[in-house]
This record gives sequence, structure tokens and C-alpha cells, in this order.
Amino acid sequence: MRSISSVHPDLLKWNRKYAGQRSSFLPHPMVHRLPLSDLPSGGILELAGGPSGSALALAEQTGRSICVTDISDMGLKQLHEEAEVRNLARLIQCLQVDLSVWSPVAQQFALVFGLRYWDSDLFVRACEAVLPGGYIAWETFSLAEQTYRPRFRTEWCLLDGEPASLLPEGFVIVSEEELDNGEAATRRLIAQRKLTSGP
Ligand SMILES: C[S@@+](CC[C@H](N)C(=O)[O-])C[C@H]1O[C@@H](n2cnc3c(N)ncnc32)[C@H](O)[C@@H]1O
Repeated sequence: MRSISSVHPDLLKWNRKYAGQRSSFLPHPMVHRLPLSDLPSGGILELAGGPSGSALALAEQTGRSICVTDISDMGLKQLHEEAEVRNLARLIQCLQVDLSVWSPVAQQFALVFGLRYWDSDLFVRACEAVLPGGYIAWETFSLAEQTYRPRFRTEWCLLDGEPASLLPEGFVIVSEEELDNGEAATRRLIAQRKLTSGP
């Protein structure tokens, strides 16, 4: 695996952020909407999870192994420490990767999800990692976020129709929601890879 430069701007930015604040480890609300009872057997992959309360909640609820990827070793260290406190460390694998270049193995996970992080190429690679019958779930900021944060970059936002418009052949949309709580505007997609990808 390609090693990450210690001066990678994303690494520096997020390590600085996480060094200054301890995570609440609260699961993201999308976790409560995931079709956990319908997952095929297999592990779960979280992309750009940082110190993820969602991964901890899913490990606790499902007993499945969860691989959490992120560029920030500081965020992953916090997650690992909390997993140890909760006796969940055996289920949580922390993987430091640069998601702009990293690809998961194809058809390896029962569920792949990402929250508050966006890279359209990564989304397509994430879909490839889903097992037949498994799910992809994503929630991140839509363009409407710029009404709350005018300087939030367009490249960090879902364009209209994304991520559903990027789903490869063989996926069906389970739910798609436009969310706006008066402080943040996001779009949530949950989709399933059909058991057989044929016509
Ligand atoms: C806004 S935070 C979201 C964290 C978490 N998903 C959540 O919703 O609380 C963005 C995350 O993306 C990670 N990140 C930023 N650039 C990255 C990259 N190039 N590769 C991997 N992770 C990256 C950061 O370290 C950070 O944990």
C-alpha cells in the first residue's frame, strides 16, 4: 500500500482538528435507518469515519467486524481507544488510507457507508466493494449547505441527483431523502446491490 506523506494537507488539517476536540462518539442518525436485519453475512466498511460513534454502535448492535478508514491517525487512535474501553476493539479495524487513491477489494462487504465526506470517484469504488445483496449508504452535504456556509466548497457537495445518479448497474434505491434541519442540508441514499447483477 502507498504510504501517506506526513505533510498531506488532509492529514495535517484533520489531525489538528481532532487533537483539539474529543469526539462525542454519538452514532450518526443514518445508522438508525440502516436495514441491519437484511444484511448478507460479511463485514462492514466505513469510509472517512474518523473517531466514529457510528462504527462503535454498529459493532455493538451487529457483532460484525467494522473496518473504519480515514487519513487521520489521530482520529483513528481516538476510535481505537474508545473501542477498547467498550470492549469492542476485536470488532473495529482502523485503517489509515488516503481515500483519494485507495480502493477497497471488490464485493467484500455486506455494508459500505460514508458520512459527511464526498468524493464521487470514491463513491463508485465504494459501490464495487458491496457484496451481492449488500448495501451502500451515504449521507453528506448537498449544494443547499451553501445557504448555511457560503464558503463551503462546491466540490465538497453532492450535485443535484448525486449520489443516486452515480450508482452502477445492479443497484436499486431503497431510500433517498433530502434533509435540512435549519443548520445543515444533506442528502441520504440507501441502495442495495441485487443478488444477481444480470438483466
Ligand atoms: C467531516 S469529517 C467526517 C467524519 C465522520 N464521517 C463523521 O461524519 O463524523 C471528514 C473525515 O474525512 C477524513 N478525510 C479527509 N480527507 C481524507 C482523505 N484524503 N482520505 C481519507 N480520509 C480523509 C478526515 O480525517 C475526517 O475524519
